Amino acid sequence: MKKWFFSCILFAAFFMGCAQVSVPVIPLPNSVETKSGNFIFNSCTQLHYNSADVDLKNAVMPLVEKLHRAAGINLSGKSKCKMNSLINIDLDNSITNDEGYALSVEPKKISLKAKTATGIFYGVQTILQLLPEAVEKDSIQKSVKWQVPCVLIKDEPRFGYRGIMLDVARHYESPEFIKKLIDLLAMQKMNRLHLHLTDSQGWRFESKKYPKLTQIGAYRKGTPLNATYDYNSRPADTLYGGYYTQEQLKDLVKYAASRFITIVPEIEMPAHSMSALASYPELACLDSNGNAYPYPQKIQNEYCTKDATFDFLDDILSEVMDVFPSKYIHVAGDEASKETWKTCKYDQQRMKDEGLKTVEELQSYFIKRIEKFVNSKGRNIIGWDEILQGGLAPNATVMSWTGIEGGIKAAQEHHNVIMTPGDYCYFDHYQSDAPGEPVAFCCMLTLPKVYSYDPVPAELKDDEKKYIQGAQGNLWTEYIPNPAKVEYMIFPRAVALAEVDWTKPELKNYDAFTQRLTNYLKRLNTYHVNYSKHLFEIKLTTSLNDNKQVTASLGGVNKDHVIRYTLDGTIPTERSPVYSKPIIIGKNATLIAAVLHEGIILDQVKKSFQLHKAVGKSITLETLPDKQYNKGGNSAWVNGCLGNDEQFSDDEWLGWEAKAFNGTIDFGSATSTSSLQTRFFHKPSSWVWVAKKVTVQVSDDGTNFKTVVEKDVTIPSKEGASTVELKWEPVTAKYMRIIAEPLGKIPAGNTGAGDDAWLFVDEMVVH
Ligand code: ACM
Repeated sequence: MKKWFFSCILFAAFFMGCAQVSVPVIPLPNSVETKSGNFIFNSCTQLHYNSADVDLKNAVMPLVEKLHRAAGINLSGKSKCKMNSLINIDLDNSITNDEGYALSVEPKKISLKAKTATGIFYGVQTILQLLPEAVEKDSIQKSVKWQVPCVLIKDEPRFGYRGIMLDVARHYESPEFIKKLIDLLAMQKMNRLHLHLTDSQGWRFESKKYPKLTQIGAYRKGTPLNATYDYNSRPADTLYGGYYTQEQLKDLVKYAASRFITIVPEIEMPAHSMSALASYPELACLDSNGNAYPYPQKIQNEYCTKDATFDFLDDILSEVMDVFPSKYIHVAGDEASKETWKTCKYDQQRMKDEGLKTVEELQSYFIKRIEKFVNSKGRNIIGWDEILQGGLAPNATVMSWTGIEGGIKAAQEHHNVIMTPGDYCYFDHYQSDAPGEPVAFCCMLTLPKVYSYDPVPAELKDDEKKYIQGAQGNLWTEYIPNPAKVEYMIFPRAVALAEVDWTKPELKNYDAFTQRLTNYLKRLNTYHVNYSKHLFEIKLTTSLNDNKQVTASLGGVNKDHVIRYTLDGTIPTERSPVYSKPIIIGKNATLIAAVLHEGIILDQVKKSFQLHKAVGKSITLETLPDKQYNKGGNSAWVNGCLGNDEQFSDDEWLGWEAKAFNGTIDFGSATSTSSLQTRFFHKPSSWVWVAKKVTVQVSDDGTNFKTVVEKDVTIPSKEGASTVELKWEPVTAKYMRIIAEPLGKIPAGNTGAGDDAWLFVDEMVVH
């Protein structure tokens, strides 16, 4: 009874309350009026629209197909029974925004109007989200009320460009997977899929004129995590890559267009182009002696600015424009070192001929020349914000990624801008520091942070704001080798970005968004989307209580949710205990805490505990850890908590640059010990190496120590936390000293070779 009462209150709040939570639709519509009653779909419901209009038919089809598949309702056919409810869908010029729509739902009639088929498509997506989520299922669902609440919605997007970029150059993704992604983006009213088709690690666009691009450039040896970039001397069994034929790409373009999504192709230039240069080395620069650079040669990833390069790129872009009808063709322009241009005789000649003083001006010449060609075909270029260097091409749109400054500058120069700043839009960044997160790039971009983004920089004047076309989420795939991980990194951050791009900022509210998202996730479940479960930021902190017992505290979740937990390493369910006060860890345990909604996990954290003889004892350290890597405090190595297996930036890992760990434990009284188990972090790609040697000493007086064991540490073959165990004949003493010597100089052939290695230390488990 009580449960029923609260459900009713919640329901009423949902449909009658303030605008933010009035309808369970993502992105939140911009104007919603709720009314009483429901429209019920049944086999007598009739649908009226002009089915001779192909675009309109595409727009309406998701409603017809999904209701047929999941509800067995045939909206498209002539019903045998007397019409008892009607859906009227019409184009209407009185709606001013090309993507806007007006939806009126009454008990017996739905009316959907828009200026264009695109607007109708978005209205249809709204109706689908007002229906129970069972409408997304691919078989008949019994006992579902196929109804939508009566509402009046007037809606239009805040921005005309609402995009996601997928890098298919670092890792190739199949056309089938790209279609799945298109379907998902369409559900949330996004309208651009930017495909990063070429990069140093792979060329994915079939060129009929330059076949070596896909014979050579589409396949590399190894993966980016282990790239040799050696395209020429590749044993056949290690080739890695793939490419799209022009037919496959045209099919993708058509598929996306029927879901009102434009595919924006990107061809990298002048840098990030080793795959092309491996295929056609004659387009590369020469060294200062006039000789060709040998392959593999990392710094040589820029095209030479000789005429042959422009002829090649004009040909490629012509083929690209034949395949992709997009008004905008992305020509990159990012991260060119321009080093080789400083010495190559062709580039130097080009600078002389064109009166260019700097290589930045030469880059500007490059992009302007390409723009001229693209404009001559009636299209426009987009480039990353480096195209501002040396002077912006006259009609270019700028994608601002290095920050927002490029976007501000371009808008001030009256150029269109798409905002993709790394801090808010780079979906290759971590989304949580919870243990178990798959390896990601550099920094942290949580779901609330994406949601908080406002693409219009405050620095712009009112008349400059209109140049901001929208925001795009970018997924670079150096660390993302398969569809499951693509989905994990994109969702639900792309859902938050969809609302950033569509909904007026004054209507946005993160708590209300997470309520609607909770519903939306059920739809993603239907499509088996491997979305990340970090809607909140559950905070798990540990401490010792007055009795020196290890305790775990949980928080960080809003009042609408509870945290449930287990201590045996199993995933919490709705039956697991609800957290109410700090948990005393009485024995070795793996604590998993989660927020659930109807069985779906919305956020989850995990920490393992090992109780041992040194927990809570008084300690001294000869050298304190680096301030940046000392989050858990100087005694985190004897607090009973294990660090993250995949990242060394949590509260448990302690880091030293080129210094030894040298810690002494005072047990308080003579204590018998016989083993030490600890972990070092090993991540050579970040200058972090396991210790060279571990020594254990004991003492009765804290002054005179004798060594009981020492061990050389083997360098592990893979990155991550690496366990080292030392055993000795039982010895009784009041003090123990543990010394872990750092590796010293990083060996040749590794990142940072010749520099000092860092040392990261986890719990020192003493028994
Ligand atoms: C970029 O992230 N290099 C555009």
